[in-house]
Amino acid sequence: MVKLNINLKDRSYPIYIDTDFNSIGKCIQSAGVNGKIVVVTDSNVDKLYSGKCVDILTASGFEVYKYVFEAGEKSKNLNTIKEIYKFLIEMKLDRGSALMALGGGVVGDITGFAAATFLRGISFIQVPTSLLAQADSSVGGKVGVDFEGSKNIIGAFYQPKLIYINVNALATLPERELKSGLAEVIKHGIIADRSFYEYIEQNLNKIIDLDENSLQYVVKTNCMIKGKVVEQDEKESHLRAILNFGHTIGHAVESVSNFELLHGECVSIGMVGAFKIAEYMGMVDKKVTKRISDTLTLAGLPVKITGLDIEKVYEQMFYDKKIRNSRLTFILPKDIGEVIQIKIDDTELIKKALADLSV
Ligand SMILES: NC(=O)c1ccc[n+]([C@@H]2O[C@H](COP(=O)([O-])OP(=O)(O)OC[C@H]3O[C@@H](n4cnc5c(N)ncnc54)[C@H](O)[C@@H]3O)[C@@H](O)[C@H]2O)c1
Ligand SMILES: [Zn+2]
Repeated sequence: MVKLNINLKDRSYPIYIDTDFNSIGKCIQSAGVNGKIVVVTDSNVDKLYSGKCVDILTASGFEVYKYVFEAGEKSKNLNTIKEIYKFLIEMKLDRGSALMALGGGVVGDITGFAAATFLRGISFIQVPTSLLAQADSSVGGKVGVDFEGSKNIIGAFYQPKLIYINVNALATLPERELKSGLAEVIKHGIIADRSFYEYIEQNLNKIIDLDENSLQYVVKTNCMIKGKVVEQDEKESHLRAILNFGHTIGHAVESVSNFELLHGECVSIGMVGAFKIAEYMGMVDKKVTKRISDTLTLAGLPVKITGLDIEKVYEQMFYDKKIRNSRLTFILPKDIGEVIQIKIDDTELIKKALADLSV
């Protein structure tokens, strides 16, 4: 088992990275949680892992309940939160109780928001099971739901008491979801760690084949990279914005394509877009753009999209909630392993880069 720590003063917490669920009860106990636990999960993950987790928790002496909602982003709304609150009241949860998110990013975001708000905040445990959640969304404390068509518009910053990751849970993840998660993994290399990026380039097959050691290394490195950024800027007032690399264009593509593409697939396209802009601004050589594009392609991710409506994507970027003063902000690469935040007014340059993303 690998253990990391996220240092956020009184909100600090450990991340355990393991190859099964067996130590989960022990780890929760050592985080000081000893009340009732409600395992919140979705309909897919429920069938695969909730029985095992409930058994281990029960054997560790916890009083355990389970709440299941239908899998998918469409459940990430206030209605699901309301149903969870009702269940928590029915099970008589108190301030010493905890919610455990067992699933992908959707389960983590919903459960974290319910934990942040029920009784003004009860303990929250992350047990991420998708690659996106293990390598990205479970770390950092952003929780929330979608509202009236806007993604993640209601939420909070609420840190878990611990994160427990079983990398072998990825064995059942659909391949397209695994590859989509790889986009965020590659993103972390590009924004902060050149040697990790090179590790991915050289070990892509092992990662896709779910080699246990490679997965542990990848998840550990991602949690460390994201953790370091979050430690320096927990509530995204400056540095944390670098985690949005590839997301200015990516989110817009996601909306314009009516969410037919997965998030990581759009981030992949968005990262190539950011490299193109940087290339046109003379910040990176086109060989570097090609290198990134080749890695993403080898990872099974799209780097272009058929018939992309450039005007629509351009307009959509302005609706992104992170845009202030009507100027587009981009996180652009200076090189692999280093990015900077830049506001850009040059409409033609942005549209030229967007045009490169369309086939
Ligand atoms: N809080 C954050 O910082 C943050 C960061 C990035 C993304 N997000 C959010 O995360 C969500 C996306 O997360 P996601 O990609 O994990 O989506 P998801 O939770 O919908 O999981 C994807 C699919 O995989 C299934 N699944 C999960 N683990 C599985 C396993 N081990 N075996 C088989 N099936 C499994 C799920 O049931 C679902 O069908 C979005 O809502 C996004 O907004 C949050
Ligand atoms: Zn993302």
